[in-house]
Amino acid sequence: MDIQRVKEAFSSSSLFSTVLLDMPIFQNLIQEYEETQPFAGLSVAIAHVLVPNTLPLIYSTIIGGANVMLTDTVPSTIDPETLTLIKSAGIPYDPTFQDATSYDYAIDCNAYFVFRPPKKGLVEVTRSGIHTFRDIAPAVTILDVDSTETKKIETFLGNPQAVKQAFHTFIGRPEDLLMDGTVVIIGFGKIGRGLARVFSDFTSVKIMDVSEGAVAKARALGFNAQVVTGDIAANTSFLSGADAIFTATGHHNVITVNFDKTGVTAPYLINVGAVDEFGEHYSEQEVFMSKNKPFNFNLTPPTGNEYIDAILALHVDGLRYLMNRDLSHGIHMVEPDYDRGFVSQFEDHNFPITDLLDRYFS
Ligand SMILES: NC(=O)c1ccc[n+]([C@@H]2O[C@H](COP(=O)([O-])OP(=O)(O)OC[C@H]3O[C@@H](n4cnc5c(N)ncnc54)[C@H](O)[C@@H]3O)[C@@H](O)[C@H]2O)c1
Repeated sequence: MDIQRVKEAFSSSSLFSTVLLDMPIFQNLIQEYEETQPFAGLSVAIAHVLVPNTLPLIYSTIIGGANVMLTDTVPSTIDPETLTLIKSAGIPYDPTFQDATSYDYAIDCNAYFVFRPPKKGLVEVTRSGIHTFRDIAPAVTILDVDSTETKKIETFLGNPQAVKQAFHTFIGRPEDLLMDGTVVIIGFGKIGRGLARVFSDFTSVKIMDVSEGAVAKARALGFNAQVVTGDIAANTSFLSGADAIFTATGHHNVITVNFDKTGVTAPYLINVGAVDEFGEHYSEQEVFMSKNKPFNFNLTPPTGNEYIDAILALHVDGLRYLMNRDLSHGIHMVEPDYDRGFVSQFEDHNFPITDLLDRYFS
């Protein structure tokens, strides 16, 4: 790989410079990596969504000295302009590449390299990827950056803001349309809690979750909340009068299985999860713009770059974390102080979040 060619292509790219403007943690990381060359002599396989805000991750790995092989992940998400820049920079890219076994490390998204992992370790950024690594248990060291406070910057703060923005863009000002209304959020995890926080500023919010602990937390925060049980009539009656229903459970078919469709009458059915949560009883037209993908993925970018900055910086810097520790095969959590460092950097550039995270997750 011709590093000079990569530098020239990226430094003259308005796509890259625009994205980087919103990503100050990466601005610092790139400068530091260029000076210290932490990945000199290493080979790194990268499987990721190829969209503008992953360009800093790819660039920083290369500028830090690594020999990189790039592929997209499954499901494939490729922005044409991003791919054009990657190709014009001469970065090795092969959409069929799957075998990372001759590479030192990998940056992985959704367990793409689970069957052919690299020699020394990999960093995984998604919950579904961690589930796959747990099930298959390949003989490799895995750093789980999904289970971090840093990841909540994306899911609890960024994704819900993007959902509100998408509502505004595709339906109308939620503050006006939902002013005297009710929203039901199904799934009170990271994104569900963030949605509740954002939407409860201007509308009445009700919560459902299968977890009694999550429902207890919702009630402690002042929300009207109910556990999803096998009693379909009781589940369905909780949706009565809702103006919008958001799903954020992470599971297929949740609405089809647990609710009677004749009682699911809200004008807006909105899936915020990555899979089809309304399921087989619902058509493409019935789930507003989002049956098979998160609603906010209809926006560009789907989530503000400032909320992605910290977690993607941790995703690439996880390589350095692995290099500096002698960890056994299996899944490892990130040390809290290291995680905290990325949250602090977000706070330095944006606003304090520690108390907020404590309030919603403690
Ligand atoms: N919209 C986006 O931009 C975006 C970004 C990242 C991830 N996601 C997707 O959003 C989904 C939720 O992510 P998360 O991080 O909040 O997950 P999470 O695991 O933190 O929370 C999921 C919640 O749903 C609850 N749940 C599970 N099954 C349920 C059921 N049958 N009925 C009711 N509640 C149920 C769980 O108890 C949990 O509280 C996932 O599919 C994730 O991939 C979306």
